[in-house]
Amino acid sequence: MTERLEWWRNAVVYQVYPKSFADGNGDGVGDLPGAISRLDYLQALGVDAVWFSPIFPSPQCDGGYDVSDYRNVDPLFGSIADAERFIREAHARDIRVILDVVPNHSSIEHPFFVEAIGTPPGSAAWQRFHCVQGKGEHGELPPNNWQSIFGGVAWTQIRDASGALTGWWYLHLFDSGQPDLNWNHPDVVKEFDDTLRFWFDRGVDGIRIDVAQGMVKEAGYPDVKDANDATLLDPHARPYFDQPEVHDIYRRWRRIADSYDPPRVFVAEAWLDTPEKRARYLRADELHTGFNFDLLTAEWNGEAWKRIITDSMAADALVGAPTTWVTENHDVRRSPTRYGGRVVLRQVATTEHLALGRRRARAAMYTILALPGTTYLFNGQELGLEEVIDLDDSQRQDPHFRRTNGEHLGRDGCRVPMPWTRGGVSLGFGPSTGSPAWLTQPTTWGELSVEVQESDPSSSLARVRKAIAVRRAHHALLSGVLEWDDVRCRDGVVVFKRVLANHPTVVCVANMGDGPTPTVRGTLLCASSELVDGMVPPDTTAWFAQDG
Ligand code: NOJ
Repeated sequence: MTERLEWWRNAVVYQVYPKSFADGNGDGVGDLPGAISRLDYLQALGVDAVWFSPIFPSPQCDGGYDVSDYRNVDPLFGSIADAERFIREAHARDIRVILDVVPNHSSIEHPFFVEAIGTPPGSAAWQRFHCVQGKGEHGELPPNNWQSIFGGVAWTQIRDASGALTGWWYLHLFDSGQPDLNWNHPDVVKEFDDTLRFWFDRGVDGIRIDVAQGMVKEAGYPDVKDANDATLLDPHARPYFDQPEVHDIYRRWRRIADSYDPPRVFVAEAWLDTPEKRARYLRADELHTGFNFDLLTAEWNGEAWKRIITDSMAADALVGAPTTWVTENHDVRRSPTRYGGRVVLRQVATTEHLALGRRRARAAMYTILALPGTTYLFNGQELGLEEVIDLDDSQRQDPHFRRTNGEHLGRDGCRVPMPWTRGGVSLGFGPSTGSPAWLTQPTTWGELSVEVQESDPSSSLARVRKAIAVRRAHHALLSGVLEWDDVRCRDGVVVFKRVLANHPTVVCVANMGDGPTPTVRGTLLCASSELVDGMVPPDTTAWFAQDG
């Protein structure tokens, strides 16, 4: 019973980037009816849950992470009725649904901001945001030296009703279209209590919390020491991230989630520089899980992987939380491109690099699927899609590209819509009579499409499906303890066992080294690439079952 209630401890969660998964109405942009039509695909893939990046009404200045109404659905994606249908039909297939709530900032089209902008700075309506007097004689300079994560100053000067600049500024750690909310204001607290309940009442099983280390800002808005270092993983204390009071918010949210039957769950998106800091968000009365981004930024290196796995599990064990594993999402370069060799800005990877990268990306998925905890897959990862580097600049929508004048290519390249069929106007992403996809898909993706890979037992899709099915069938992979084979872990080879009493042990051999490595005793369950001469070749992960 407990195991079933605590499904989030060992789930495979599939991330749907709504604009890029499936287009039901043919406008070139993915939507909920499209996603509903692909639920059978997700069921066949064997995932336990789907996480949707934001589907709420939004001017889309940051792909929906700028929300104007937390309790509605953007017409771009459909309606509340479509969301309810998705939830119902997913549940009928035993797939859970996680939505993505963005509490650190709203949109300039959210009613709170619309109300504030119509009043003089310093008014009651502005108290829901961080509206601060600027420096300089007339407030013409920003209040402090904080920089936006997307580049440029983190403050925008407010204009009065006549359009003239005032001496006041509002804070936005991301784009100027994403004003930071003031979590000391009771209306903000209530807005999110209501939002959680609204979606939980509609059967949503869990919530991903965007910028979960954000929300609370240090009083007085002190300068940061190194204003040029605005990276999310900055190891220095930041007056706007990881403040102690943020934990009070999560204790409150946990009580709301626990008031439901079955209890609803949270996953924190908190970029923190150590596993210990992340674990503090996962204490028993706070959040259930948090993304572990350490493998997302790791190179293809066995020693690094072993260290990350060990450290992450040790930190999470202190608070009794499961670890999560992520090698792709909508914010970073696709893994075949990352693993296929260093990619220089705008330089498209060679066919050779991509073949190597895809092979490694498959082996990486096999490795994380063999680890204890929850594994995340990003839509298209199962197909081995690469980063699309050479998109036309006119198509790029990421504010990171715009705010850095193209110095950063941005994240559009990992958000290019899925290819479902070998041919057709959008490779089956939308109806054959519909528009091309909102970001142009490479023509080569026809050969990577679901249609092509479904009929090839050695394809990435077929191998990932197989691994998820084997994981489901082997209790040791779901709840066995991890034991390292320290003798075999060398020269880039990573070997661990999953051990559970009264069940066959499963051994995972991940070869990230340069030469072939021997197999282990037992039956081969599945492998990310073919074994050669009874050996696990480089860039391959294989699983073996051992009785007794
Ligand atoms: C994290 C999200 O994953 C990313 O896509 C977004 O741009 C930022 N948070 C800001 O909301």
